[in-house]
Amino acid sequence: MLEKVKLLIQEVADFSGDNLADIEAFRIKFLGSKGVLKSLFADFKNVAPDQKKEFGQTLNTLKKAAEEKVENLMASLASKADENPKYGDLTRPAEAIQLGARHPISLVKNKIAEVFSRIGFTISEGPEIEDDWHNFTALNLPEHHPARDMQDTFFVEQNPDMLLRTHTSSVQIRYMENNQPPIRTISPGRVFRNEDISARSHCIFHQVEGLYIDTDVSFADLKQTLIYFTKEMFGKSKIRLRPSYFPFTEPSAEVDIYWGLKTETDYRITKGTGWLEIMGCGMVDPNVLRNTHIDPEKYSGFAFGMGIERIAMLLYQIPDIRMLFENDMRFLEQFKSVI
Ligand code: DAH
Repeated sequence: MLEKVKLLIQEVADFSGDNLADIEAFRIKFLGSKGVLKSLFADFKNVAPDQKKEFGQTLNTLKKAAEEKVENLMASLASKADENPKYGDLTRPAEAIQLGARHPISLVKNKIAEVFSRIGFTISEGPEIEDDWHNFTALNLPEHHPARDMQDTFFVEQNPDMLLRTHTSSVQIRYMENNQPPIRTISPGRVFRNEDISARSHCIFHQVEGLYIDTDVSFADLKQTLIYFTKEMFGKSKIRLRPSYFPFTEPSAEVDIYWGLKTETDYRITKGTGWLEIMGCGMVDPNVLRNTHIDPEKYSGFAFGMGIERIAMLLYQIPDIRMLFENDMRFLEQFKSVI
């Protein structure tokens, strides 16, 4: 009898299980309610009195060994599961999802597009590497025209006819070449000028061009469209049009909005006048219509162009244009809550 228990102690010591089913089978065999130990303890009463003590102690050794074995094997199974978890630790608090943010240039561009789409404008795009015709000549800026110097141009070295577009007005030409009136389109995009980089200007920036061509379009339609736009975009509808000159429009104007002088920042950005220039505009010059095979006797229209950086800087109080191009996460993350 005692020998049998000693053999069982050896069996317990030798056992090793690396999965739950084996360990459970072992536990049931030794410690279960119909297990080995239960029946051995039941046999205790049949043991001769002088052997009872030793038998009892050996039986207790077996019980303890079996219990410790199950405990140890379960613990090592659990720690293995930790090392190579199937689902990770489900009790850990969830990690916050890193949300991206839209770039302020995209925010402003999307907003402008949304405001104009509500009154029937489509979105059109053109190439950033442009030819002379679309960027200058067709826009009533023939070769040697002095107004070409208004926009310092990056030319493509290998081909003097090609350049990086200096404005999105080039898309006007492409759109009119491919579409007949009525035309209502805006063209957002990147433009390039050979200018020194400073807090207020950059050699790469973004513009949105607008074009409206139909029968009987007048300057009053232009003005009304601008009032609608400034109201929707800035919540301000007090504007003024100052006579100006652009070769592609006649008459031409610059648009100022009344920004006010409520804060120190307002004072600084409007240079103490309360007025702020936001875009150029005018009635499309008949020469431009002719260049794109649209009959100026039948059709008229207006165009406008504005800089996106300038508007973004105004809306979000960004003091330096360079911040819009550096992609510093600390700057960009501030736009997370804006859609
Ligand atoms: N292209 C002009 C610029 O880059 C902006 C502009 C002014 C566009 C008047 C227009 C316009 O369509 O009518 O400075």
